[in-house]
Amino acid sequence: MELGNKVIDEAVQGSATLLADTDKTNNKKVYIESYGCQMNFSDSEIVASILAESGYGTTNNLEEADVVLVNTCSIREKAEQTVRQRLTVFNKEKKKKPELVIGVLGCMAERLKSQLLEEEKIVDIVVGPDAYRDLPNLVAQVDEGKKAVNVILSKEETYGDISPVRLLSNGVTAFISITRGCDNMCTFCVVPFTRGRERSRNPESILKEAQDLFDRGYREVTLLGQNVDSYLWYGTEGLKKYYENLSEEEKAQSINFAQLMEKVAQISPKLRVRFSTSHPKDMTDEFLHVMAKYDNICNYIHLPFQSGSNRILEMMNRGYTREWYMDRIDSIRKIVPDCSISADIIAGFCSETEEDHQDTLSLMDYVKYDFSYMFNYSERPNTQAQRKFKDDVPQEVKSRRLQEIIDKQSTHSLERNQAYVGKTFEVLVEKKSKRSDNELAGRTSQNTVVVFPKENYKVGDYVTVYIEDCTGGTLLGRAI
Ligand code: SAH
Ligand code: SF4
Ligand code: F3S
Repeated sequence: MELGNKVIDEAVQGSATLLADTDKTNNKKVYIESYGCQMNFSDSEIVASILAESGYGTTNNLEEADVVLVNTCSIREKAEQTVRQRLTVFNKEKKKKPELVIGVLGCMAERLKSQLLEEEKIVDIVVGPDAYRDLPNLVAQVDEGKKAVNVILSKEETYGDISPVRLLSNGVTAFISITRGCDNMCTFCVVPFTRGRERSRNPESILKEAQDLFDRGYREVTLLGQNVDSYLWYGTEGLKKYYENLSEEEKAQSINFAQLMEKVAQISPKLRVRFSTSHPKDMTDEFLHVMAKYDNICNYIHLPFQSGSNRILEMMNRGYTREWYMDRIDSIRKIVPDCSISADIIAGFCSETEEDHQDTLSLMDYVKYDFSYMFNYSERPNTQAQRKFKDDVPQEVKSRRLQEIIDKQSTHSLERNQAYVGKTFEVLVEKKSKRSDNELAGRTSQNTVVVFPKENYKVGDYVTVYIEDCTGGTLLGRAI
């Protein structure tokens, strides 16, 4: 994720995969494009691994692909439009090469199911997020001339045993999924429907994956979940309600997010650990103390608040109030003093008044986020908000409010970045800078991007950088 004020534009989020190494081969190649959140990018790595087991190599060249997979997002309407545009492009490819197999994966596949086959005639396979192990079978079915669908959601699947093929990798940073699904039922959100119930992954497999990445030279892992704070392992994959039936002794042996984090942090002081997304209702002081205890747990928290108005938060079913959220911010500032904080904000939710909107702006003033992801409310079919409330804020009002939110965030981001000038930070180098081959780019613990002259440093190094200047999204400095 990059720093800076960003209205997420799903249109620029897609990215094709690079070649992966496989031992087995059936001389066939799969091209995977991913949209949406980090979970989807992480899932595409699992998909690549499952297909590699059946002999498929990956390619970043659409023209040499035998199978094209698009891992989709349904979070806002625009995300789905982007995917449909991509399917038109794949259609052209299929005209040239009729045996090309085209599959839709992820949240849009789960939301639309077989309806997608009727709407998009060129689609051969529809696979939901919990059915990726079935992909080799589904591709084989299509090769026999049938269309194939598997959108069964699971209560146990975490793909814990699968070692992901690292696609688009810089060899330094990687994602590790720790939970799947979401039990929160925010009224605006499709995720509980597209990703199913929340499950936590076996900590042993998480630690093994992190250790393995470290041994291979990776220096940063990001633990992923829709709500990482609700991670809970009690000896088996499965729904949280089963936890309630355990004996006190069994419960005492369970592992929560703070405990998991501590174990990952102990792998090596040279392995940075990040996590996303935190939920205000579940983020504990116990966890913040673990963060403070380990230097290699990055001082950065993504803590979406969505709206600053208690009335709207209640309608959204977010499970906290403005005051509770502010208390969580106060705890972060106290326990992890130099922590940067980012947020997700929605403008123009159902019935939002000017006063509600002002509450959002004033909460932003209270926190002064380093950066935010800011969105217009987009009504999603079959969500509770769609069934219970009216999407009644006119588009021009939504857009004006969103612009006010963006403008405020720009001011805060610049202020935050200016405060970093004149200070020194440890930067983990991730890549060459986009501007020049003579410069490197990396991030501080606070997740701010830093660009500095290359000298003799290389990707994967930790470098102490003195910050001399900044723009809204980037710090500029030199190694000392
Ligand atoms: N699990 C994370 C968020 C996942 S979705 C959390 O609860 O924080 C990422 C963001 O998309 C959300 O935080 C929200 O700001 C935004 N979002 C979700 N549904 C939306 C909708 N219907 N319209 C606009 N934005 C939405
Ligand atoms: Fe959606 Fe809410 Fe779950 Fe986040 S916590 S994924 S916003 S339902
Ligand atoms: Fe989108 Fe699904 Fe992620 S809806 S944001 S890809 S969980």
